[in-house]
Amino acid sequence: MTIHDLAQMASDLVADGKGILAADESVATLARRFDRLGIQSTEQSRRRYREMLFTTPGVAACISGVILYDETIRQKSSIGAPLTQVLERQGIVPGIKVDTGAKPLAGSPDELVTEGLDGLRDRLAEYRGMGARFAKWRAVISVGDTRPSSRCISVNAHALARYAALCQEAGLVPIVEPEVLMDGAHTIELCEEVTSAVLHVVFRDLAEQRVALECMLLKPSMVIAGTNGPRQAPVSEVAAATLRCLRRHVPAAVPGIVFLSGGQSARLATAHLSAINRMPGAKPWKISFSYGRALQDPALEAWDGRDDNVGAAQQALSHRARCNRAASLGTFTDDMETAATAGDRGASDDD
Ligand code: 13P
Repeated sequence: MTIHDLAQMASDLVADGKGILAADESVATLARRFDRLGIQSTEQSRRRYREMLFTTPGVAACISGVILYDETIRQKSSIGAPLTQVLERQGIVPGIKVDTGAKPLAGSPDELVTEGLDGLRDRLAEYRGMGARFAKWRAVISVGDTRPSSRCISVNAHALARYAALCQEAGLVPIVEPEVLMDGAHTIELCEEVTSAVLHVVFRDLAEQRVALECMLLKPSMVIAGTNGPRQAPVSEVAAATLRCLRRHVPAAVPGIVFLSGGQSARLATAHLSAINRMPGAKPWKISFSYGRALQDPALEAWDGRDDNVGAAQQALSHRARCNRAASLGTFTDDMETAATAGDRGASDDD
């Protein structure tokens, strides 16, 4: 795998009109999501759910890659094919979450540091052997009166940079995900300040660890007020603040920015992405999505753990994928949300 191949893979993941499906919830997180709907979480039910998502007809027109969890990358479909092969046959690239979760930061118990560097080189080699071509590591930054501390930013940025360097050595494209959480009562202005500080340190550390920016993707949160903030900014303000912040900190060599949804509703995450892409002025990177909940929630609800509902659930995923495809191209319109879903199973024709 040459540096050229890695750069090509990074660009392919953000090819026009394509984004990433994050389906890498840990067993505990997916169990919580299943629980809310009364679906039993077992190794089999998690596999059936993921197989339903991955076999959605036509979804490859909108989805370039899927981020898997360790359990999923080892699972086989109902007819015995590895789930990675199911994806590849659709023309979708398998990726893998490689951090081992965010743990309390010593000396600062209300802040988190993401772990997983120990043994990472060997795990990356194993995942690559199983078909993964890109990876994800999520750092979590919370906002509050005294948070984030500069220590929290620096340990998380350092870990992200070391992870990214190891990925490139192993022939995997790293997705670098510093998430500034929406939880809290902070203003959009404070979110912008914190996101700026975080991106500044992340790119400094990426440079220090000699990460090739052409061979990675950035997965940031949008600049948005805290869920309990005094004022929720309109879509246009979120778009302007987010783009301003990214322009100030993300070098043009990075081929793509793929947002997380972070707890926004599915529709709002699409509207924000579309508004960002429609903003005037230079955008040196592709701007797309790597959503988890904002792509999956409607599909999970429609599926409800039942094989009879597979068609309806796939239609729900397809609809969100097509709306976000249009948003990544800046061609999304509100009408698409209400458009007949009958056409949602085929290839895109709305852009
Ligand atoms: P959400 O879009 O649900 O925030 O998930 C994206 C993700 O991969 C978080 O790490």
